[in-house]
Order: sequence, then C-alpha cells, then structure tokens
Amino acid sequence: METYGKPMPDATLPEIVAHRFADLYDGAPGVLVRAPGRVNLIGEHTDYNDGFVLPLAIERAVWIALRPRDDGAVRLYSLHHQEAREFALGGREREGRAWIEYVKGTAWALGEAGHALRGWEGVVGSDVPIGAGLSSSAALELATARAFAAVSGVDWDPAAMALVCQRAENEWVGMKCGIMDPMISAVGRAGHAVLIDCRTLATGAVPLPPGTRVVVMDTSTRRGLVDSAYNERRRQCEAVAAAFGVPALRDLSAAELEAGAARLDPLLARRARHVVTENERTLAAADAMRAGEAALLGRLMNAGHRSLRDYYEVSSPELDAMVEIAQARPECHGARMTGAGFGGCAVALVDKGDSAEFVERVSARYQEATGKEPRLHVTGATGGAEIVPVPG
Ligand code: GLA
Repeated sequence: METYGKPMPDATLPEIVAHRFADLYDGAPGVLVRAPGRVNLIGEHTDYNDGFVLPLAIERAVWIALRPRDDGAVRLYSLHHQEAREFALGGREREGRAWIEYVKGTAWALGEAGHALRGWEGVVGSDVPIGAGLSSSAALELATARAFAAVSGVDWDPAAMALVCQRAENEWVGMKCGIMDPMISAVGRAGHAVLIDCRTLATGAVPLPPGTRVVVMDTSTRRGLVDSAYNERRRQCEAVAAAFGVPALRDLSAAELEAGAARLDPLLARRARHVVTENERTLAAADAMRAGEAALLGRLMNAGHRSLRDYYEVSSPELDAMVEIAQARPECHGARMTGAGFGGCAVALVDKGDSAEFVERVSARYQEATGKEPRLHVTGATGGAEIVPVPG
C-alpha cells in the first residue's frame, strides 16, 4: 500500500486516513467518506455530445476523514502532497490547478447551487493514480461534495451532486470535461457498469458478464496538451452538429451522417463518424452485457479502439501497443484505450480464471515492446460516493 505518509504496512487506506486524522487533529474523525475513480468500458468522447457512456466505478478511491468546524473554514491535509491547506468558505482566490482547488471549486459550486455549507477539517488520501485517466479529480470532487453534504445536512442526490462537481471542474478548475466522470463516481454500482444517458442523466446498471474481470492497463505514459486536443475535438463535434442543424451529434444516426458526409470537411466527417458509431456501439454493448455475452462486448470494445485510433485520432503508440498485446491473449475478450486518450490507460475484459496470467503476460510483453514499465490491475466494480463507518 502506497500511503504517502507514515509507513503502516498492513493498514488499508481508510485506516491510514483515519489514523492520520487522529495524529493531526487530536481525536477521532466524526465522518469518513469515499468516492471512487472510474474506468470506461465503452462510450468514449460521447458524453459532451449528449451521448451514451458505459463506465464502472473502480476499487480505487479518494477517502476523506473529517470533523465539522464552526468558523466557516476548511482545513485539509493531503497524504499524497504531505501538506495542509486551508481556505475560508465564500472566498474566491484561486491558485491555478493546485489540488486544493478541486476542493475549493466544489465548495464554490455547492454554494452556487444554493447550499449553506459548514466548514470542516480533515485528511484526504487516494489510491487513484493522478493523471492516468482514471478520474482522480472527479473522485476528489465527489468525496469533497459528500463531506460537505454530511456536515452541512445537505440531501444527497447523486446526479445533482455530479452536476455540481462538473461545474466545479468546468468553471473553477477550468477543465471542460463532460458529465461521465462525476456521474459514475456518484452513481457507481457494485458488480455493475452503468449505462448513462448524458443528455437526460438517466442511468441503468448492467452486470459484468459472468466469469469475466476488468483489467485496467496503465501504459505509464502521460501526455501534455491533452486539454487543447480535447477542446479541439469538442469544437469539431459542435461544428458537425451545427452543419446538420441538430443540437448535438447524439441526434444523428450513422446513416444520416454518411448521407451528408460528402459536404463535410473529411477531418470533421471522421470525427463525427467516431461519435455516432460509438453511441451505437455503447447501446449494443449494454445489450450484450444484459445478455451475458462477453465475446460480443469484447468485439465492440475492439471496434471502439479502432474508431478512436483511426477516426478520432486520440490514441498513442503506447496505447495501441498495449491494446494489441492484450487483444492477442486467448483469455481476452476485448481491449481498448479508455478516457480522454493520448496516454494513460487502456481497459480489457478477460476471463476471470486467467486474469493473473493475463496481467503477467501482457505486462512482460508491453515492457519488451516499449521499454516502459506498465501497471496492470484487475478491478471489480464498486458503489458510488458514500459515507462509510470510521475504522476503530
Ligand atoms: C475525459 C473527460 C470525460 C470524457 C472522456 C472521454 O475523461 O473528463 O468527460 O469526455 O475524457 O470519453
């Protein structure tokens, strides 16, 4: 266990967070909250096109141990950064993208949504890797929202809280991300992926196919300029929707797009082709899961990767290598890059009995092919942001 703090070899992260709280603030925390990271099975770059996504909440999460304060201040110690930061509720000063801004931004967005907040002091710990495309920032925002709701007596409405956290990220932190990451961190369900309609925010839990496991495959690559490439893709999608006179690419079928593709710039046509076919694949993937058809789900994931690589052009040589190596394994049903792209993680669906072998073989082969040391881990699907009992 990486604790970023005092060595406590056999302790779990919630135990470490609670223990550190007692060290720093004298006394036990009154509340412990958890909000998970996520991996997306399919439905990539569709959320900001009002489309469909099919992510699951992973076993890695952000944990905050806390206790209310009555002076309108928030004081938080980060195990990862090994520093404490403090701010007054209602303040507006920002410091770029420092970690505390995700907390401040969430407080700001909760205030904008009309909630009267109480301050608190706490310790935050996370085992969601930062910058890997597993949504560490949405997990921090949701954990923060859960903490504020707990001490301020705010009703916990997961979808409403996801929107608050998205606003924090968009308007306070300045990242124009879609609704997928905060939604799944809020509404995750154990053993299930969640089909999210990003226009209506309707959700439906779909079970992982029996006998399969999800493997998160970190390429150990991180790319700069992801924000600008992401924003450029968003603009390209909006341009195509405008050209067809529809509110979003969600409103265009693959057949309608192809019928009018000749009047589009070829680059824009490729971008839109990814989005409209990805929406169709995502709905088909949810059906395949409901029918327990792992092989079909896997084929849809493979097709999703090709589309992201060739039409949306957000893959990378390392992501392609990881995906090809994974797909070549007999125990793998399907694999694709996941998240925004350019670096970070891929995801695979594998037979449960052979998942350890898969991890070992794919890790070795990837390292051989790229010279980079990957990090693969098998994950189950967990529930969304919640209050949990404080460990004794
Ligand atoms: C990032 C964003 C999400 C989504 C994905 C791509 O993770 O935060 O909103 O757009 O990229 O599917």
